[in-house]
Amino acid sequence: MSPKFSQTTIEQVRNANDIVDVISQYLTLKKSGKRFVGLCPFHQDSAPSFSVDPDKQLFHCFGCKRGGSVFNFIMEIEKLSFPETVKFLADRAGIRLDDSPRNLQLEKEKETLYFVNRWAANYFYKNLFSPAGKAGLDYIQSRGISPEMIKKFGLGYSLPQWDGLIKQAQKDQISIDSLFKAGLVIRKDNGGYYDRFRGRFMIPIIDLSKKVLGFGGRIISDAPDQPKYINSPETSIYHKGYVLFGLYQSRSEIQKLDQVIFVEGYTDLISLFQNGIQNVVATSGTALTPNQVQLIKRYTQNVIMLFDADSAGSAAAVRGAEIFLDEGIDVSIVTLPPKLDPDNFIQTHGADQFRDLIRQATSLTQFKINLLVQQYDRETSQGIQKIISELLSSVLRMKDPVRQNLTIKEIAEYFALEERALFSKLEQLKRGKRIFRPVENEKDEKITAQQPRTKNKYDLAEKDLLRLAIADINWLPIIFINIKLDDIADPLNKELFSQLIDIYNNFEFAETDNITQHITDPRLAPLISELVSEPLPPNTDQRKLAIDCLAAVKRRTYEKFLRLVNAEIKAAEAKGRDTTDLLQQYLELRKGIENIESKKFFKEYIDEAEE
Ligand code: CTP
Ligand code: MN
Repeated sequence: MSPKFSQTTIEQVRNANDIVDVISQYLTLKKSGKRFVGLCPFHQDSAPSFSVDPDKQLFHCFGCKRGGSVFNFIMEIEKLSFPETVKFLADRAGIRLDDSPRNLQLEKEKETLYFVNRWAANYFYKNLFSPAGKAGLDYIQSRGISPEMIKKFGLGYSLPQWDGLIKQAQKDQISIDSLFKAGLVIRKDNGGYYDRFRGRFMIPIIDLSKKVLGFGGRIISDAPDQPKYINSPETSIYHKGYVLFGLYQSRSEIQKLDQVIFVEGYTDLISLFQNGIQNVVATSGTALTPNQVQLIKRYTQNVIMLFDADSAGSAAAVRGAEIFLDEGIDVSIVTLPPKLDPDNFIQTHGADQFRDLIRQATSLTQFKINLLVQQYDRETSQGIQKIISELLSSVLRMKDPVRQNLTIKEIAEYFALEERALFSKLEQLKRGKRIFRPVENEKDEKITAQQPRTKNKYDLAEKDLLRLAIADINWLPIIFINIKLDDIADPLNKELFSQLIDIYNNFEFAETDNITQHITDPRLAPLISELVSEPLPPNTDQRKLAIDCLAAVKRRTYEKFLRLVNAEIKAAEAKGRDTTDLLQQYLELRKGIENIESKKFFKEYIDEAEE
């Protein structure tokens, strides 16, 4: 759907959403003369300073001075953009903004799935209070979860039968097809179906408008051959990377405290919530995605990540924290004592000690330092080089130069190094920095793996670039402001480049005269001898050669991404998703290719490359 709406549409949506009606869903309004008044939801209000004018269809707060139309109110309270607000209010009033036939069909399917999921959530909930579901209730109670939390999170139980849900659906005239599309049943080879969730503690995953998107189900008995958790699959309404478990329940507290705590597990979140720590969301055991970061960004910029003490926990912490960094958010990290998860911790030590723990959160830099000094020997120069490079690579990801500076100070202080040395090292790293990165590397690798390794013109171009770098190491930074290391397809070529960059970054310039002598990796020996025995002819126009080779390598990457984006557009269209961003990417890629053809892309100086 296009994010731009016509004025007529906007008016239609405005007229269908009376401001008193809408605001009454968020706070209590009392009539006072011609107006309505209430406590302002946007600031700590003791006397009712918030007033709504039904005639003008405007609101105003005399305390915090916020005011405007029903659109402004929703944008502020739901933290939505204007187009999202139009959509939100249109949905509320049952106005369809886009009625192309395919979308209509998809919308209908989605409505059905929302309905079926809600029905199922209800069924699972009711099981808890039936004799057949006593085991489920016993389990929930044994975990210390209160009746209040059962209600608040809509918890439930799936009976230990193959067709508990299916039977109930027959009674309630719900089609097996919709159960299947919602991921609630699994199809057998012979065409029959059985319940996906059996004998499990059921946790509904809901979105910000309280729609049930899917379920997580935890086994309640010790069945060693069964996974502890089973989750709903991705469906047309459940896209895991876009959801944060618990956000519906926790968002007001997150806003109030201007802070969010990220945990991994469903039960961690519920348990913290019950114990009064309510500014929490859970990633539900999947890797954090940029979309989830965007989602939380609407509510707060202060993020604390809570992780288990083991090495898997640390790795996940660093990975997650770097995704936040990429999105311009700083995070602090809290490591739990060994063998405790947030649920165990708060049940053992209580909320006050939990808050103490949160107060001891360390910066990502400090967290990384702690990990790295365990990993490398800081007494040797090689060890310290490694540690510093790793730390600076996170600094490089920071978008805010002030934050970069502060972090460099932190590192310099810790290792008693001169800040100046760190800054110049950072500059060096920037030269090797990957400038172009439109799609995640993961997809990138799939394509690389499919392509056979052939000695084609691209391989020649890669080798000539290596020859250039060997002839004059100063080509190296110029090459890598124009392409990134991942643009080099041949693994050996890539490895050689990567080792050359290391040498370039770690040695004094005087030592890089005869650079290949520093490479001792036996895997690279044949390649080096090939390159050295066939050097560039003495009269080569090096600049022209560099431009031609870079153009070839760049072009290959762009075309690869173009194919990927094309495929994504098709997939998105098929799913009825918004393709605006993808189309934009597509156009940028096309423009990039044009620039390559006209050789306009070439950057010869570092400064020019730093946007
Ligand atoms: N998870 C999952 N599938 C699994 C294991 C875990 O989806 N097989 C997800 C669940 O969202 C779970 C989270 O990862 O909540 C964290 O897993 P874990 O720490 O193992 O579980 P807990 O949340 O601590 O659950 P419990 O306390 O019930 O053991
Ligand atoms: Mn647990």
